[in-house]
Amino acid sequence: MKKYFSNRIIIKVIPLCAVVLLPFNKVLAQTKAEDAKMSVFVNGLMSKMTVDEKIGQLNLVTIGAATTGSVVNKGVEDNIKKGAIGGVFGIWGVDQVKQVQDLAMKNSRLHIPLIFGLDVIHGHRTIFPIPLGLSATWDMGLIKQSAQIAAKEATAEGLNWVFSPMVDIARDARWGRISEGSGEDPWYGSQVAKAMVQGYQGSNMKNADAVMACVKHFALYGGAEAGREYNTVDMSRIRMYQDYLPPYKAAVDAGAGSFMSSFNTVDGVPATGNRWLLTDLLRNQWGFKGFVVSDYTAVNEMEAHGLGDLQTVSALALKAGLDMDMVGEGFLLTLKKSLAQGKVTQQQIDLACRRVLEAKYKLGLFDNPYKSLNAARETTDVLTAENRTEARNITKHSFVLLKNSAQTLPLKKTGSIALVGPLADNQRDMLGTWVIAGEWQKSISVMQGIKNVIGSGVTINYAKGANITEDSSFIKRLNFAPGMVSIDPKPADELLNEALEAAKKSDVIVAVVGESQSMSGESSSRSDIDIPESQKNMLKALAKTGKPLVIVLFNGRPLTLTWEDKHASAILDVWAPGTEAGNAVADVLFGDYNPAGKITATFPRSVGQIPIYYNHKNTGRPYDGKGPSKFKSNYLDISNDPLYPFGYGLSYTTFGYGDVKLSKTSLKGNEALTATVTVTNTGKYAGEEVVQLYISDPVASISRSVKELKNFKKISLQPGEQKEVSFTITPEELKFYNSQLKYDWEPGKFIIQIGTNSSDTHTATIQWDK
Ligand code: BGC
Repeated sequence: MKKYFSNRIIIKVIPLCAVVLLPFNKVLAQTKAEDAKMSVFVNGLMSKMTVDEKIGQLNLVTIGAATTGSVVNKGVEDNIKKGAIGGVFGIWGVDQVKQVQDLAMKNSRLHIPLIFGLDVIHGHRTIFPIPLGLSATWDMGLIKQSAQIAAKEATAEGLNWVFSPMVDIARDARWGRISEGSGEDPWYGSQVAKAMVQGYQGSNMKNADAVMACVKHFALYGGAEAGREYNTVDMSRIRMYQDYLPPYKAAVDAGAGSFMSSFNTVDGVPATGNRWLLTDLLRNQWGFKGFVVSDYTAVNEMEAHGLGDLQTVSALALKAGLDMDMVGEGFLLTLKKSLAQGKVTQQQIDLACRRVLEAKYKLGLFDNPYKSLNAARETTDVLTAENRTEARNITKHSFVLLKNSAQTLPLKKTGSIALVGPLADNQRDMLGTWVIAGEWQKSISVMQGIKNVIGSGVTINYAKGANITEDSSFIKRLNFAPGMVSIDPKPADELLNEALEAAKKSDVIVAVVGESQSMSGESSSRSDIDIPESQKNMLKALAKTGKPLVIVLFNGRPLTLTWEDKHASAILDVWAPGTEAGNAVADVLFGDYNPAGKITATFPRSVGQIPIYYNHKNTGRPYDGKGPSKFKSNYLDISNDPLYPFGYGLSYTTFGYGDVKLSKTSLKGNEALTATVTVTNTGKYAGEEVVQLYISDPVASISRSVKELKNFKKISLQPGEQKEVSFTITPEELKFYNSQLKYDWEPGKFIIQIGTNSSDTHTATIQWDK
């Protein structure tokens, strides 16, 4: 068989109308009837299957080259014909997928269709901002829309399963995969998880433009010690339930069809073989009905975790509740032997096989194994002008204005600009991590975007100014695929001089700097999260010119920007923006769109503050916010405060907040409260503002976080306009996991806080009794 996979660069199924039209019990009855029909079908099929064919359904392979590990599947064609493979990932395109599906449909004994998956993470062909950037939109409609477009493009290229959303909470910016999630907050992360699952799966996974979501990485992967990739995770149950598990649960509640187990251990047992996690919690407590696939060779990796040989760990995983083995073939090679030796039971194999077949049934693959394979859609639905327009819109909503002194931004559409930096005239790094099918050649560079937006009205004096880095061993690591980082043959001094020359000739400097594509994502942990030295040296030299210095920052994680915050005139954080990068950057730089994004992960002042997150506990000797003092929980050499707190982001305009007005200050039982603030646009531009609601519970049976995000509203205001923003608060918002892991609220005093970010709020106190 042709090798399709050449070079992988990592970079409720209840119809909506039915919900509206039918009473709940009728919908329930309909769902039950559909489930019953599915059971009859799957029972019938399974009654014909041999043990080998059942184990085959549990085997997921990738075709061609190694992806995130060193293992590649061999003999795929024969195995598909034998019925020894249940799914394939790593290929896309109607012709390719059809050829592989044909192998199963025409040659395997029972003609069971394959499921086709791919890492469609932030778009398929039209690439959206990396998930951390998308989350900065605080706009669930836009986030859902990005998943819908991705699903439409992925199905148009023959896919029916995406390895997304990644909902791992991350509080450690050293971890490269913080770029793939929605930041540090469990409530906010839950909203994003729900929006993504709904966007991918739509109202019915049988629809031609819907895919099955695969929620990952279950669980707690973002809690890796020291931010080091694949590292140990160890945390208390209270922390798990309160801070890390909610987004996974939200995805289950949203009807996610599949889950992926994570690489890490949970309570000492690798997630992939952890029965408490995959069965007791996910299925028994949360009611998940889909299937669980392992992460890439994660079954085999349990050997290195010290859990036994391949046969032992494969049996352990199956018994824990893992249904599908990604790439490693531990199930394929050992489960039959384990069955013969009584190490696993026929029922355990049957259960896993049933779940995989049910997924295929829910996707409509038994009705039509070729359902997404319509060659016309490949041209009409993929990377269309319409998708690009939507992407440009979504992208500009993800940008966060971190600093803007003396209203440096927006820039005028006249005069001259020194456009400098290794990311200024660059297409490759626009897309960010995990863009398997995204083509960087189709992306818009910042230089091109500026030209598109301002035409010839502004003189652009371009100079690269610096390489991404000058550190040769670092460059080697970044170039895990050829050409990811190329180094300019000119000496560093010469590059810098060119940038200074450009600056001299210009009214303003726009420095496009930061992290290149492979500096974040999987296996891209960093111990130093500064802008690399070569680029920083350039920034320092440019700052000395005295010209206004605007930094357009590319980053897959929060960076330490203490120097930049002090010396730059403006900083616009654009993450890794995707296909429409340059156009969206130019829209914002020149004021066609007023930025409104807010960060969802705290930016530390120094890497030594990590892990740093807004919803921390108080300690017995709390830091008083007035600077370091002896015998308090603080540092000798740095303040506890972050550089930019969770929820922070500026606008070209300014917003004034009034006091918090409460409908009552004393409540009982299940009463509800309305908290209102008046927000006024006090500046000169129309703008959007994310109004955030936090609640503190100062006295409880356990030590609680200092505050927790409970809601937000995004509003638009014309200059001078005022709006009242109200939040309804019920006991639901007061609940937390107590030391018995009971989710409930306790009576007492609560502090309601509403504001523009987690550190800048107006407060009011209430008493709520049971
Ligand atoms: C990653 C997953 C990804 C899988 C398949 C793994 O290394 O952890 O997020 O879905 O590879 O490519």
